[in-house]
Amino acid sequence: MSNKPTLGEFIIENEKQFKYTSGELSRLINSIRLASKIVNHEVKKAGLVDIIGATGDVNIQGEEQQKLDIYANEVFKKSLINRDIICGFASEEEENYIKIEGNNHNNKYVLLIDPLDGSSNIDVNVSVGTIFSIYRRTTPLGSKVKTEDFLQKGNKQVAAGYIVYGTSTMLVYTTGFGVNGFTLNPSLGTFYLSHPNIKFPTSGNIMSVNHCNFPYFQEGVKSYIKHFQTQKKESPNVFRYIGSFVSDFHRNMLKGGIYMYPKTIQNPKGKLRLMYECNPLAFIAEQAGGKAINGSLRILDIDPQSLHERTPMFCGSAEMVDMVKEFIVSSEEIH
Ligand code: AHG
Ligand code: MN
Ligand code: MN
Repeated sequence: MSNKPTLGEFIIENEKQFKYTSGELSRLINSIRLASKIVNHEVKKAGLVDIIGATGDVNIQGEEQQKLDIYANEVFKKSLINRDIICGFASEEEENYIKIEGNNHNNKYVLLIDPLDGSSNIDVNVSVGTIFSIYRRTTPLGSKVKTEDFLQKGNKQVAAGYIVYGTSTMLVYTTGFGVNGFTLNPSLGTFYLSHPNIKFPTSGNIMSVNHCNFPYFQEGVKSYIKHFQTQKKESPNVFRYIGSFVSDFHRNMLKGGIYMYPKTIQNPKGKLRLMYECNPLAFIAEQAGGKAINGSLRILDIDPQSLHERTPMFCGSAEMVDMVKEFIVSSEEIH
């Protein structure tokens, strides 16, 4: 047995940081913890589908197995709705947000989620993840949630986190008091605190970017990439791009590096989604001493206009994010 605290114990202990807590946020994080174990179980057997059949061993209704991103969405949605723990749910997989009335009309939190990030990696046994973001509603308790409850700036987040289904499964989250990471012991089904108070190294030697888009980036970004390629350092710089933001982010936070999804000529707002991907990871990055910008502005200060809006994203070690910003700003001054 480990003498490290479990996630369940940590959540209870952490509650003391909030004055006058009703325990509602703790119950919400607990529900995410449980749902993540169900999704983890399914993700880990994805490669067995061809061996045990598409329906696996669970489907008594004889239905076709759903794609994992849809499955993950259903698991999180149902767990949170059934536990009557939030008043609103928005997901990358749903066109509109869902109003949850439940038995308890006084729930005050809304949740936004990317249920399965990096989904193109599932079939090839590469790490994927889940990203979540939690806000306190702004409209009166007991009324139906409105768009404005979801469209809040990232700096209003109460909590954010992610789960990486990797070589081991980890849950990493923040409630605004630093970032902590928990590793799942699969034989016990218990998350243990394995990475207390995670800090982004101030700089690093990793860059994560889809280099195929290089010709279509703005000049400042191109110059930063060229500078990075030729920078002389004790340990050489490297490109590492998994294509699953959450996994690239996780590695960079532990080792030091920068993740970039800049705008291109074809996609002037980039690809990543502000509410489901960028805001939660920006909150975690900052809580760990890193930074996240859209090229000029802090991600957490962007005023969102729609649920599914996209934004360019530069996120990681503080000195690296500052440097790409300098390159962008000075190239815009010249042109
Ligand atoms: P999702 O699987 O949730 O749609 O997200 C995929 C995202 C992100 O995780 C990843 O870093 C990026 O898309 C990869 O995009 P490119 O294939 O354009 O590089
Ligand atoms: Mn995603
Ligand atoms: Mn997704």
